[in-house]
Amino acid sequence: MKAFGLIISTILLFSCENKKEIDVCYNQGIVSSTKPEATEIGLDILARGGNAFDAAVAVNFALAVAYPRAGNIGGGGFAVYSIDGNNFGALDFRETAPAASSENMFLDENEDVIKDKSLKSGAAVAVPGTVKGMFELHKKFGKLPWKILLEPSITLAEKGLELSKDEAEIINKFQDDFKEVNQSKIPMLNEYKWQEGDSIRYPKLANFLNEIANNGCEYFYNDSTVTAQITKAINKHGGIFSSTDLNNYHVVWRDAIAIDFYGYRLISMPPPSSGGIALGQLIKGAEILRIDTMRPHSAELYHAYTELARRVYADRATYLGDPDFIEIPKSQLLDDAYLQDRFSNISFDAKSASIDIKEGKVSSIESFETTHFSVIDKNGQAVSITTTLNGHFGSKIMVEEYQFFLNNEMDDFSSKPGVPNQFGLIGSSANAIAPNKRMLSSMTPTIVHKDGEVVLVLGSPGGSTIIMTVFQTLVNNLIFKMPLQEAVNAPKMHAQWLPDKIYLEESVGDTISISLQKLGHEIERIPFLGKMNCIGKLHDSCFVGAADSIRSEGNWLGLNPYR
Ligand code: DON
Repeated sequence: MKAFGLIISTILLFSCENKKEIDVCYNQGIVSSTKPEATEIGLDILARGGNAFDAAVAVNFALAVAYPRAGNIGGGGFAVYSIDGNNFGALDFRETAPAASSENMFLDENEDVIKDKSLKSGAAVAVPGTVKGMFELHKKFGKLPWKILLEPSITLAEKGLELSKDEAEIINKFQDDFKEVNQSKIPMLNEYKWQEGDSIRYPKLANFLNEIANNGCEYFYNDSTVTAQITKAINKHGGIFSSTDLNNYHVVWRDAIAIDFYGYRLISMPPPSSGGIALGQLIKGAEILRIDTMRPHSAELYHAYTELARRVYADRATYLGDPDFIEIPKSQLLDDAYLQDRFSNISFDAKSASIDIKEGKVSSIESFETTHFSVIDKNGQAVSITTTLNGHFGSKIMVEEYQFFLNNEMDDFSSKPGVPNQFGLIGSSANAIAPNKRMLSSMTPTIVHKDGEVVLVLGSPGGSTIIMTVFQTLVNNLIFKMPLQEAVNAPKMHAQWLPDKIYLEESVGDTISISLQKLGHEIERIPFLGKMNCIGKLHDSCFVGAADSIRSEGNWLGLNPYR
């Protein structure tokens, strides 16, 4: 362990903190994540000769320990990768509905949605995909031994880690939920309020990760004791889970969505995430509306974003779901003529009339949890991963023997057509629940190429707002030419067809808000949107990172500065 500490300190000598001079860039690799501990672990793997895939796997397990509200082994996610200009793709390790699931499982006898059942019960838990996802990603592209990638996280779990102020607050906030669903004392429970600097240890998680390090993903999915313990934890709270669900879980390698725009090539996540198609429609819409001629942070631009989003999210609700279960008109949704027509009735004098909007009262968008990280190595290979438990700490159900949280991803299905989920998203039969089906996601891990080389790696948490946050950061950087950190920090807005309103970060000026209201938009203020963790090309093969240190603890580190 001492050796590990030494390596980390050595790396830190050769790297610098978030405040980097603009002329310093890195050509030996960068990691950007939401927890400094995880970023350091990823960078250490690069320093030890690992490639971007090795580092990404190590970061994922580190986040499972250091950022348990979203980093996970009990959830799922998506990876978009780029080896070179012609060799890129996507890995889907999204959770699946248990085999005993059924379309109406969250409805009562009157066919009304049972409040919170898809969020706060054993039935909310879908089959986790993360451990298999990381294992397969490593098997296909990794260079260093699997075991080495887990070692730092095992140590982290054993030693424990100090809580930041934000973490202490979040864990305090969910004390009642933790008590409600967990029978014994899980590490997060405390008689007193957690304070910044307190530390939490996860000895059982350390042992569990050690077994996964030694035995691979088989241990998680096929060891009969493990699958029985996971099943027991879920079914104790009304779950419909069985060990066979874990035995049968598989990841899917998918072709990434690839779209050319403004001289760049966008590479993003295909269904069952809506991210790639929606981002593709938005960016093509941005070209059609010539947003490059508009002023950044202007009412005109936000109006354009809103009108695009209204149409894009309506398509999302109607056409998107798990491609292994439904036919998705992908080419048509991204077809130039279709989009020209779709966006042709956008007016700059008033907002669209919402004639087709179905009723559905939703609570306002709160803060949710997911996490994104980006990695690039010295050979220009890049990995962009967004992973989640869905809500903060998922279902809050911890598998107590192994000290990890289980997701509540079943809420991402449409429990009933037209009834919004926690993100206010409306769904249709395309995203209805079915056994073994993957629920529609908004996660948008993305990579952008120019002339066959990576120029941007990006992604964000934020539920339904992810797509718009990624879109605005990308536009800020590549179209408005803002330095990457400025693009990340910049105020953000969100709109999504329903509810029929614009969410504006508090940092967006009142003048813009008033101008939008004059166009007929309803405005709701929201403290923060997204937590981006990105990497961008500065010049030649030299990269900088950008992490959202305003809205999160995010940081980035590079290996060996290059001037
Ligand atoms: O897959 C999705 O779209 C959601 N389950 C993601 C949840 C999320 O981003 C929550 N937080 N920030």
